[in-house]
Amino acid sequence: MKSKKVIVFLEIWFIAQATYFVTAQNQPNDAEIAKKQHEAIGITEDTKSTYKATTHEDAKWFETVGFGMFIHWGICSVRTIDSSWPMMPGTQIAWNGYKYSQDSIDMYLKKGDYFAGHPCKKNNSCITPNEYWSLAQQFAPKHYNPDTWAKLAKAAGMKYMVLTTRHHDGFALWPSKFGNFSTLNYLNGTDYVASFVKACRKYGLKVGLYYSGPDWYVNRHFMTFLYPGIEKKYKNVPVLDANLQPVQRPWTEQQKQDHSDSMAVYIRGQVKELLTNYGKIDMIWFDGSPSISKSSWSKCISMKEIRELQPGIVVSPRFFGYGDFKTYEGDINLPTNKQSEWAELCSTVENGWGYTQAPLKPIDQLIEMLVLCRSVNTNFLLNFGPDKDGRFSTEMRSHLAILSVWIKKYGKAIDNCIALPDTETASVPATAKGNHRYLFVFKNYSKEVINYRSSLTIRKVVNLTTGNPLKFIKNKNGYDINVVFTKQTKFPQVIDVELS
Ligand code: GLC
Repeated sequence: MKSKKVIVFLEIWFIAQATYFVTAQNQPNDAEIAKKQHEAIGITEDTKSTYKATTHEDAKWFETVGFGMFIHWGICSVRTIDSSWPMMPGTQIAWNGYKYSQDSIDMYLKKGDYFAGHPCKKNNSCITPNEYWSLAQQFAPKHYNPDTWAKLAKAAGMKYMVLTTRHHDGFALWPSKFGNFSTLNYLNGTDYVASFVKACRKYGLKVGLYYSGPDWYVNRHFMTFLYPGIEKKYKNVPVLDANLQPVQRPWTEQQKQDHSDSMAVYIRGQVKELLTNYGKIDMIWFDGSPSISKSSWSKCISMKEIRELQPGIVVSPRFFGYGDFKTYEGDINLPTNKQSEWAELCSTVENGWGYTQAPLKPIDQLIEMLVLCRSVNTNFLLNFGPDKDGRFSTEMRSHLAILSVWIKKYGKAIDNCIALPDTETASVPATAKGNHRYLFVFKNYSKEVINYRSSLTIRKVVNLTTGNPLKFIKNKNGYDINVVFTKQTKFPQVIDVELS
């Protein structure tokens, strides 16, 4: 008996070491994480045919809007954890990089450690769904003032703002008449969406509302909270309830169908509220497909109804599987080729979407991302996760302040600019507007010239950083522009090329 205990102990110790090793050596990258999350919330692989932009006049802004602010905020901020995902263990097992054997999985399952020894235990981000939802009782933002967000966004050159009105966790930030998990049941019906919309309008920002198709709260008795993706890889995987305990789901087909129908009605009700109660909404940023059966779709919201409620709205493709633009997610998924359809990359200033106290990504790197996005006709939606009181951290404010200085000087090279026309190329990222071309020189650009290939004639070239003219020489394919700068900076420098 004693020796068996020793063996088990050794096994656990060994797995802990091995877990540490894979954790440290083989972290899944952003692209892998986004892919796995998308699989779990029913976002299907992008296929070209699914993106066809609306031709409505009022939606045209999206084509060249350039830069926007994403806000992930909700009850998760009470505990300084990411939005929704921490309540679903198993993601740690499924993401590439963690290549567990069936034996180690059996071991974790036997111990009931569905987080598989993941460091979330140490950093306080392992949480059961019921614990996560109970954060709603402590959610009492003292300084919620979206005016401040909008003001900072505007100064930083952002033209639209998107708020998570309801994430996968199911907590609605407005007093919804549908369901029982919103500010109507908590917070005396305070409407955070209304004040958000008002703030966007005040600062001339386009209004975007994020809404998750999946709702893990409403669906809690019908789903498993162990990341479903791992069933494909491993045997003996239990279904977990909202206390992360193994459970049987005894529902009959009829009960499942009734539940699916009621979720469809609930989602339709909530989306209609968002699209009718707040005046003009410029964008609905759906995220994921609702967990309803095919036959329930007729009871859910349809694209036609959305366009009737808000004729000029821009719709993300993640709910219906088609929409007005193509969505990319995470720095690593930044498209490298010029986009012919409307496109947007969403990414974060932090690692994760919700508020964390971890250091942010360097601001020069984020500015480079913005430039790269615009040089391939892609909008950049940059996420900030405010704290539980609704405030940005000091570091976020400082990032935004730096951005606003850069934008003040170089905004004209981003605002309403598009990628170079097909007949022109440049050896650095570039944008175009009228008879101007803007060439961006990043800190690691080591050459002395930029090659700008075009049959057009250059009239003048100016370094916008110093205001000084730059020399250029015509060659058989276009021009060589001299970029030996007297002043170096870690932020992208911009060359303004004026064509005749
Ligand atoms: C993914 C994540 C979700 C996040 C969204 C933002 O879908 O599941 O947490 O809100 O990306 O793009």
